[in-house]
Amino acid sequence: MTAKRRKIKRFMAQNYALKYLTQAALSAPKDLLNSYIARFTPIHPTVLIYHCTFVCDARCEMCSNWQRGDRKTDMSLDQIRTAFQSPLWKNVEMAMLSGGEPTTRNDMVEVSQVIIDSLPKIRKYGINTTGLTPHRAIPMITKVAEYCAEKGVIFSVRVSIDGVGEMHNEVRQVKGGFEKANKTIDAMRELQKRVPFNFGVSATIFNRNIDDCENILAWARKEKLDIVFNMVRFSDPMLGNGDLANTVKPIGRDEQRLREFFLERVRMDPVLDGQNYIHMHYADMIGNGYHREAPCPFQSQGIMLNPDGGLFFCENSEVMGNVVTDDPEEVYFRATSQKHREWVKETQCPTCLSPCQMNVAAVKQVVPYVKFLYRAGREKRKRVAPRPAEPAAVGSK
Ligand SMILES: C[S@@+](CC[C@H](N)C(=O)[O-])C[C@H]1O[C@@H](n2cnc3c(N)ncnc32)[C@H](O)[C@@H]1O
Ligand code: SF4
Ligand code: SF4
Repeated sequence: MTAKRRKIKRFMAQNYALKYLTQAALSAPKDLLNSYIARFTPIHPTVLIYHCTFVCDARCEMCSNWQRGDRKTDMSLDQIRTAFQSPLWKNVEMAMLSGGEPTTRNDMVEVSQVIIDSLPKIRKYGINTTGLTPHRAIPMITKVAEYCAEKGVIFSVRVSIDGVGEMHNEVRQVKGGFEKANKTIDAMRELQKRVPFNFGVSATIFNRNIDDCENILAWARKEKLDIVFNMVRFSDPMLGNGDLANTVKPIGRDEQRLREFFLERVRMDPVLDGQNYIHMHYADMIGNGYHREAPCPFQSQGIMLNPDGGLFFCENSEVMGNVVTDDPEEVYFRATSQKHREWVKETQCPTCLSPCQMNVAAVKQVVPYVKFLYRAGREKRKRVAPRPAEPAAVGSK
């Protein structure tokens, strides 16, 4: 790449990040007001996660969505269009398409367009993908990126990478999976030269790949890829994996190593990096015996929609109703649903590991964010402080 092209690419990326931060800053007063109002009365959701299918092109060891994927029960494009006509979605600003593997849907581009067109306040749209079927993922994501650029919506894509080379293939149980995902990654970076969007990878760490953390990090750095690390968690509504809690979670020394790895990320990475807040959250949770301190937008303004139309407050709520058979707004605001949200807050939130949209929501919640900046700063100082000299071992020279 020539120096001039590198400069243009850097400028486009910075400009895009600036646009994102400016939008976040401009909406801050309204966000604060929303959070305040939500303390007293239910408000329309502003954050949405939509699992458009559980059909998948991988068979991951830490997620069981692939076992329950069933195209017949996925909402059709027409059903999605009808459901999104509801005023329930009128304030959604951030929408994330996930699954299962979204690109297994032939109509993923149209689904994305329906969502973007139906949300009058949408600012950010994101897709999580395995990237394991490049011949489908690349053209589909290209079209969505172009559509978002046309509509002035900030677009983000993350490809999942859970190990380098064979480790990724083993976790995902896909032959040649690492090469396939890399084909999608390369295409995304090529696309970024033409269409602006945020791109990165994400790694989910559990007992199988914990020894590969540093490898994954070194690989991402070498490839100059933005990376977020997730700690494995368990949720039947989102991942279908409640039964894996006793088998794939790192425990004992492994769990402490993972804590140290997350703390090291906080020490080493720029404090304003969006992932920093998430990594600090995981380190805190392991360190304090899983007591959540971080805020979560889903407590008062999030919503999760599953492939069959099942509507949830979040990954740890029960289903409230179904948007195919019922009026989505009525389902959300009905008294039994709102009572259920109180149950979620009282019983699930205190120990919940979920980082869902937390980095985005964090900057809108001044007090927790200032606390985070303070503590991240303290961790950073630990990095530069010289270690005290080890006392010489008995008998050593
Ligand atoms: C459920 S997947 C759906 C999108 C797509 N199939 C993929 O794998 O990227 C969304 C994200 O959840 C992560 N994930 C999978 N299992 C998880 C678990 N048990 N705990 C935390 N995150 C998990 C994946 O690695 C991926 O980054
Ligand atoms: S993590 Fe993604 S690719 Fe793996 S089984 Fe779950 S939904 Fe499928
Ligand atoms: S249970 Fe977790 S995801 Fe749900 S609202 Fe509480 S903190 Fe957020």
